Amino acid sequence: MNFPPDSISRYGSLVSEPQAFFESCARPLSVTGWYNPSKKAVSPLIGTAPDRTTLNWDSNGFKCADMLNERFLMDFLTGAIAIQEESAMTSVHLMDIQPGQRILDLCAAPGNKTAQISTRLGESGTLVANDISKARLGVLHGVIDRMGLANVVTTTYDARQFPIPHRLFDSVLADVPCSCEGTSRKYPGILLKNNQNERTRLVRNQIEILERAVRCVRPGGCVVYSTCTYAPEENECVVNDVLKRAPSGFECELVQVQIPGFHFSPGLTNWNGEHLDDSLSKCARIWPHLNDTGGFFLAILRRCQRDDDVSKDAPKIKTEPILTSEWPWLAHDFSESDLSPWRSIAFSNKYDRLMGQECEPPEGLKIQTIGMTGLNLKSQYPKFSTALALKIGHLARGAWAEIEPERALDYWDRKTVPVLTSQTPYPSTRTMIVRCGGQSLGLGSASDTSLNVQSRFPKVWGGLQIADRIRQIRTL
Ligand SMILES: C[S@@+](CC[C@H](N)C(=O)[O-])C[C@H]1O[C@@H](n2cnc3c(N)ncnc32)[C@H](O)[C@@H]1O
Repeated sequence: MNFPPDSISRYGSLVSEPQAFFESCARPLSVTGWYNPSKKAVSPLIGTAPDRTTLNWDSNGFKCADMLNERFLMDFLTGAIAIQEESAMTSVHLMDIQPGQRILDLCAAPGNKTAQISTRLGESGTLVANDISKARLGVLHGVIDRMGLANVVTTTYDARQFPIPHRLFDSVLADVPCSCEGTSRKYPGILLKNNQNERTRLVRNQIEILERAVRCVRPGGCVVYSTCTYAPEENECVVNDVLKRAPSGFECELVQVQIPGFHFSPGLTNWNGEHLDDSLSKCARIWPHLNDTGGFFLAILRRCQRDDDVSKDAPKIKTEPILTSEWPWLAHDFSESDLSPWRSIAFSNKYDRLMGQECEPPEGLKIQTIGMTGLNLKSQYPKFSTALALKIGHLARGAWAEIEPERALDYWDRKTVPVLTSQTPYPSTRTMIVRCGGQSLGLGSASDTSLNVQSRFPKVWGGLQIADRIRQIRTL
């Protein structure tokens, strides 16, 4: 391909070092991600990870050379880390998330930002994660289970018509579909795909989605608008249009983007001879050569508050304990107070779900899922799901088997592994939580008087064919 292609050569005049920008667009990216604050990583049990460095601007984020090693796999399978491109991590960083809040992620799949928001809420609050694509929402459901996100409700509306709830959201993320030019370091072909008709369609959608986001946020609350493209038509021009056309009661003002330790240039206030609102300089353009990342755009719109606007409901904190009598296995092996952040909900005849005590889906929404997969109801006795074992397995007082860290790969390879110490399971089941250093790895079946445990980890988890990945790691 001639480089730079027309689609990005037009941005040369917008950056101070065009050559550095073009060269950077063609270079592959390093692996970046972040640590799940609610999970203790098991990988330190097999030694430190010298290849992981902390991000300059986010002490919870890391960069590393590759994913093909045992430590990375351990932390990924247990949900202790998420993989996410560095520039894409910034949108949620700008949302001032407080425990107990109600948040809407309008275009949520495959779910990286959903996971960021959910873990920042901790075990509190409610996050509605919406995406028009049921298939992509399936990937998001996998993220929910792998990372143990009990406060997420999923829906599958067209964001342009997302039902406006009676009680508005504290903040909304509109991470809209776009021409994705900023992902060229990962997907080089993307720069050849764009055409004018497609851009016109995208822009129309982006404006309608952002307008809907503004209607769903409470007065005084913020909408973060983000794209992974450089195109001003999809960035500043969309925001300018929404600010300009806002009907009475839905006016917004832009808030200055600030990310200490991370470099970006201000939003444009002119494009193609058109003068845009001066406040658009408060937006952020993340160019790949500035921080060695992908490209990204960010805007924060605060919905204006009038004197007569009062917040309808403050976040409620509910504290009823989980009904362990409904889950006899839990009553035997867990203390009720350890389980107090969650409750169970009968959602289908296959699985009960685990949800945060405070998680309350807005009324009137057609819901795909609430919380995460809990007990498996398909057999004679309800059984743990892998997601539930990973979420609460470290709290179990019975029904666990501890194995050596050096056996963890064999366990994920679905082998039978020797047990170091164990506590017997509930009499009606042979299911055990397999642990390492007290942290849960997943499920197993007790065999031959607890000397060994047979792995019951799924073959595919987090979208990964685990046996293939282990084979690759072992042949390195
Ligand atoms: C940029 S991606 C979102 C990435 C996601 N926020 C993340 O961090 O993993 C855009 C998403 O918007 C969804 N989408 C496209 N049109 C939509 C619409 N009209 N309503 C809701 N979602 C839409 C796509 O299916 C896609 O998953």
